[in-house]
Amino acid sequence: MKYDSISGNLFIKNRKKFMAQMKSKSIAVFNSNDIYPIGADSTLPFEQHRDIFYLSGADQEETILLLFPEANDKKHKEILFVRETNEHIAVWEGEKLTKEKATEVSGIETIYWLTDFDRVFFDLMTETDTIYFNTNEHYRQAVETQTREDRFIQKCKLQFPAHQYAKSNPILQEIRGVKEPEEIDLIQTACNITEKGFRRLLSFVKPGVWEYEIEAELLHEFVRNRSKGFAYTPIIASGNNANVLHYIENNQECKAGDLILMDVAAEYANYSSDLTRTIPVSGKFSARQKEVYEAVLRVKNEATKMLVPGTIWAEYHKEVGKIMTSELLGLGLLDKASVQNEDPNWPAYKKYFMHGTSHHIGLNTHDYGVLKTPMKANMVFTVEPGIYIPEEKFGIRLEDDVVIQEKGEPFNLMENIPIEVDEIETLMNS
Ligand code: GLY
Ligand code: MN
Ligand code: MN
Repeated sequence: MKYDSISGNLFIKNRKKFMAQMKSKSIAVFNSNDIYPIGADSTLPFEQHRDIFYLSGADQEETILLLFPEANDKKHKEILFVRETNEHIAVWEGEKLTKEKATEVSGIETIYWLTDFDRVFFDLMTETDTIYFNTNEHYRQAVETQTREDRFIQKCKLQFPAHQYAKSNPILQEIRGVKEPEEIDLIQTACNITEKGFRRLLSFVKPGVWEYEIEAELLHEFVRNRSKGFAYTPIIASGNNANVLHYIENNQECKAGDLILMDVAAEYANYSSDLTRTIPVSGKFSARQKEVYEAVLRVKNEATKMLVPGTIWAEYHKEVGKIMTSELLGLGLLDKASVQNEDPNWPAYKKYFMHGTSHHIGLNTHDYGVLKTPMKANMVFTVEPGIYIPEEKFGIRLEDDVVIQEKGEPFNLMENIPIEVDEIETLMNS
């Protein structure tokens, strides 16, 4: 791992919160992700499943976490199964978790080799009535491949048809949504690395650079600061490309007079940051670009103020829609009649701002978090309004990551990343 070690206390606290919500006489199991194949002998780099990472800190393939709060034998309350390491693996793959290291990382005393799993699991299942399966109920999930977790669930249902099944996901959605101070620090580190990348490219961008050259500058800065790289596929969209919301080709030349919308951010220790900035290729905004930019910035600032304990996500989005509508009227993009006659299910402003304003952020970029109950302190959200105008061949989005406070306005984890027009122009021309 490139990141500095994380205190095992974080994972001890996380498990405690999860186990406090488990039913009596129940067991919960969490699997690592598979290493996904590309073809021949190639694989994608390993990405740990965020739930087992959240509960154990184990960042290694083929790891299984078992939680059994009422185990007869106390040492079986928490067990981490890891792949047995040996001389051969050490030579070909390098350092893997030893039992001692696994305890140090996770704070779990009982570490078994993976080869012991079937025997130990069968024995413990005879003491329980319910097993918690870790299904994926994320509101945007669309998974077509069978995961390691899916295979485990299938096998378990065949082997233990008389047990009751329960869902881990609602518990994880709730507890992962509210961040511990250690997690906020890790997200802050990811944001700080993103800041370094962004500052680097402010002095790099000029007419004639290619979008992929900007991508390369960022990756260089991220990796040299102990990040694995981008927290999500980067969007570096110059000119009209900004009007394709998920533009990821990043293969065009940046032309004088155009804007570049960059939705680009680093991960750190599996935690995401999520930044969008829109800058002028030539180092100076035109009057019209500046006018639209300032409107987006005002919407972002007003939206941020609403992220306080008690706010309901859906109502917040409606309020942001009203603010955006007023800005679009001011910019001459909407007229009063189109607003008066708008379809409430697809308000007029959606023509220019068709995506959401905020999502939870954490171990996943679009993180877990309950969206139907009031917001709470220490939830971390993005704020990311945009105005996209294909007729004028540019689009602007601005995005920061903020932490809800007990009282007052949220804390902006990206407060040091330049966003004001003057600041951006000055830095690009210095
Ligand atoms: N970068 C993905 C998003 O902004 O939601
Ligand atoms: Mn983003
Ligand atoms: Mn985002």
